[in-house]
Amino acid sequence: MKQPIGIFDSGLGGLTVMKEIHARHPEYDYLYLGDSARSPYGPKDFETVYQYTLEAVTWLFEQGCPLVILACNTASAKALRTIQQRNLPAMDPTKRVLGVIRPTTEVIGDYTTTRHVGILGTKGTVDSGSYAIELAKAFPDVHVHQLACPAWVPLVESGDYLDLEKADPLIRECLINLLELSDDIDTILLACTHYPLLMPRIRAMLPPDINVVSQGDIVAESLSAYLLRHPDMEERISRDASLTFCTTGDPEAFGHAAGIFWGNEVKAVGVALK
Ligand code: DGL
Repeated sequence: MKQPIGIFDSGLGGLTVMKEIHARHPEYDYLYLGDSARSPYGPKDFETVYQYTLEAVTWLFEQGCPLVILACNTASAKALRTIQQRNLPAMDPTKRVLGVIRPTTEVIGDYTTTRHVGILGTKGTVDSGSYAIELAKAFPDVHVHQLACPAWVPLVESGDYLDLEKADPLIRECLINLLELSDDIDTILLACTHYPLLMPRIRAMLPPDINVVSQGDIVAESLSAYLLRHPDMEERISRDASLTFCTTGDPEAFGHAAGIFWGNEVKAVGVALK
């Protein structure tokens, strides 16, 4: 049985993380799961995001994944710790679930000179306060300015982000609102894995002296370091260089949207979670 790395997101966003991991480790098998039928997670309450994420992790474990990456900030903020502490010991203590927030907060302070970082995320991520809490530990001198962009995940999931007439005003509005929080922001973190799909427009709207940071690279780098530190886990991952894409939504629509981002044809498989 294959033992792929499992990558989970509420929808398409986790692909921005998977692409960077795959670029570094093309030899591994990967199993991607997007819970598109129940996206977006951002506006949902803690219990719901926890339940949905636990169902996804359970499913990925059942498919043979020894390691699951929650490539979703909202799930990482609201479900990761409980799953690691409460569920994993009973499910399979030899398996691992990793998130995206800790690796990001460990390095984001290195990007800012002014020590003022703007964070764009879902309502769930922003309200959880996870970034402010983790950044206070890693870089206590960094000031955090957060803004939720509730329109951005639906913009990506619907494919409307490719229609600039629809997308640009929604993107611009959030950027203006964020920059109004402080004149000193020199670094903007895209703390939602969907947002890098908007990067070309975000970059075009901001002055060049503002860094825009997406997480894919950071999380991939951190995973490489994790696998070096844990050769026992690294040896368990199967290596047939296969990519499998699954969605709880419409597989055709998912495959089409994923293919645009991936740059190759993507054939997605429809699955049900319980
Ligand atoms: N990609 C998810 C994240 O990083 C989006 C969550 C949502 O579905 O709202 O937070």
